[in-house]
Amino acid sequence: MATLDTLMTKRVAPADLQRFCAEAMVRCGLSREDAAVTAEVLTTTDTWGTHSHGTRQIRPLMRAVKAGGIRPGAQSAIRREGPGWAVVDANCAMPMVVACRAMEIAIAKAKSAGVGYAGVAHSSHFGAAGYYATLALRHDMIGLSMTNCDPCVAVTGGRTPVIGTNPISFAVPAGQERPVFLDVATSIVAVTKVMIAKAMGRSVPAGWLCDPEGRPTTDPSGYPDRSVLQPMAGYKGYGLAVLVEVLAGILTGASFLSGIKAWVGENAPPADQGHAFIAIDIGAMMPLDAFKARMDAMIREIKQAPKAVSAERIYLPGEMEWERRDTALRNGMQLPDYVLVNLQGLAEDVGMLAELETIFR
Ligand SMILES: NC(=O)c1ccc[n+]([C@@H]2O[C@H](COP(=O)([O-])OP(=O)(O)OC[C@H]3O[C@@H](n4cnc5c(N)ncnc54)[C@H](O)[C@@H]3O)[C@@H](O)[C@H]2O)c1
Repeated sequence: MATLDTLMTKRVAPADLQRFCAEAMVRCGLSREDAAVTAEVLTTTDTWGTHSHGTRQIRPLMRAVKAGGIRPGAQSAIRREGPGWAVVDANCAMPMVVACRAMEIAIAKAKSAGVGYAGVAHSSHFGAAGYYATLALRHDMIGLSMTNCDPCVAVTGGRTPVIGTNPISFAVPAGQERPVFLDVATSIVAVTKVMIAKAMGRSVPAGWLCDPEGRPTTDPSGYPDRSVLQPMAGYKGYGLAVLVEVLAGILTGASFLSGIKAWVGENAPPADQGHAFIAIDIGAMMPLDAFKARMDAMIREIKQAPKAVSAERIYLPGEMEWERRDTALRNGMQLPDYVLVNLQGLAEDVGMLAELETIFR
């Protein structure tokens, strides 16, 4: 078996990684179609450099399948709908598949009503919020995507976990410039980044965690029992996390706050997370060319702003991700140790170690 150090020096083509991941998930009981969609979502997330929420998530997801919290044979269904909205029951089906379907429903609603909302109840961990928002770009629409999740973040003035990391993403098409694309947790960082630091024995930057008395700490070793994650930008991130809770949890009929179960862990029950997807049909409101020209003008004005002494460049949200993806598609990707550990574990679980090694060159 190749060592981690060896694999870290090699590169993998996104298409090869996607094929490997899809096959591994089929061996865990997913249909070919669901495995293909899930592999596409997670590999694309890796190409953006968001490795915390890319293919390293497959092993824990397959454990959730084994524990019964995610049911690979289940189908999602629309429970209620109107001209511009729908509420979908995920039925604990594969969350990436449910999320893609719900975003497509929001897009279809926006095609006829101008704006479409699709809420999802009874779902689980859908990975990075970003992939689903970018589906709207294919239709020249603005896309928004968000999910609630089990509480691990303190609220302003509190010292215990009350609310989830509740990520939110938006994607907006432009003309000659790249689409603007933000994908962030409403906590100061995603939990996965704390868990990675903990697993690697590294400290975390000041401001990420507080101890049980509410005092700042940079030591992740006690997380989650003896420290709690902080909201992004204090009460501002806390406020946005509440918005996500309303649109993804309360409005859909999914669980919210302490009602949501952790999706990872031995025998984890169904998480009952909620998601929300919104599509805005630009062409219904203004000529598309005019919108794209205005987006280009906004992007250029931002990029021409005087730079801080320490800055080499001003980035638009998403610009780093598009550039990393271009490089990944051209030259392949070098994956960090915490992704490779998970991929090796997955390969071992499903008897595909030899296949994994052959895709790294
Ligand atoms: N499903 C879940 O339960 C869950 C929960 C939390 C987070 N997540 C995911 O975790 C991932 C990471 O979240 P995070 O909050 O740690 O992200 P992050 O702090 O790494 O921020 C990433 C975003 O910030 C933008 N950005 C970064 N530097 C920039 C700069 N200098 N100028 C302009 N824009 C810049 C990027 O383009 C990107 O959109 C996201 O994909 C999120 O969806 C998922």
